[in-house]
Amino acid sequence: MKPEVVVLSRLGPPEVMEALKASYQLHCLWEASDRKAALMAASSARGLVTTGSLGADAALIDALPALEVISINGVGLDAVDLPAAKARGIAVGYTPGVLTEGVADMAVALILAASRKLVQGDRFVRNGTWASGEKLALGWSIRGKVVGFLGFGRIGREVARLLSVFGISALYHEPEALEGVAADYCSDLTTMAEASDVVVVCCAGGAATRNLVDASVLRALGPKGLLVNIARGSVVCEPDLIAALQAGHLGGAALDVFADEPQVPAALQVMENVVLTPHIASATAETRLAMGRLVVENLAAYFSGKPLLTPAPMDGL
Ligand code: 8YV
Repeated sequence: MKPEVVVLSRLGPPEVMEALKASYQLHCLWEASDRKAALMAASSARGLVTTGSLGADAALIDALPALEVISINGVGLDAVDLPAAKARGIAVGYTPGVLTEGVADMAVALILAASRKLVQGDRFVRNGTWASGEKLALGWSIRGKVVGFLGFGRIGREVARLLSVFGISALYHEPEALEGVAADYCSDLTTMAEASDVVVVCCAGGAATRNLVDASVLRALGPKGLLVNIARGSVVCEPDLIAALQAGHLGGAALDVFADEPQVPAALQVMENVVLTPHIASATAETRLAMGRLVVENLAAYFSGKPLLTPAPMDGL
């Protein structure tokens, strides 16, 4: 008998779903018209596959009484109730490392898209404004600018490494200074924003970082400053962001993540100085294949009695 596994969302390239189907009896929740009934039918499921954004809250964990292992297709743990999993002795795996480059590439793409007016320029061509004789306003160059990183883990450091080609100066804010990193530490986020042309949000989501980027940080970043978020919408106070952009206190924003995905405030959608993408920083075929393989390998390790390859940190919970 194949173990039963609940899958919350179809994962990446077909190879990943095929590998899951080959080894498990799947309950594909996105196909169910009645989620509650589908969960009841999955009462013997021993595994759960979820994503960084969908996570697994206490209600979902409670609804699966036979659950033994959660395998997350993502690096973010903020949407998973780790204490609830720990209390039940449920093993939790995630996919650190394999998405660092894909997400970092996207941060650079967002900076260039916003600074060089790529999306605005595309609209300008398509809607005939260019053909009607108008000129698009000038963009600005990232070369030689100061970039502040809110969070300087694997992803932040990779973004800084990529941007070093443009001769940027890197600052970072973390609760504590880090050893051996090629960037200057700022213990105060507002001070970092004040000194930066661009702030890239690269930290984990969750209670510790909720609304860290608020009106005072955005005002410090300033009327020429750019905010980039490839982390979690929860880190930025969205109403403050909208107000800062509307008042001209902030120059622009390039956002891959939002407070209430997939809802994006209408106020952001009408702004020309804002680039919006639908939480796709890890969404390349290559990255999603690597993530999916790790999801499958973590499950396989669990069901063959081995330690997970990449267990989520549960110490201190
Ligand atoms: C994925 C993410 O979008 O890693 C994360 O935490 O948010 C993203 O890489 C998500 O998990 C989709 O599978």
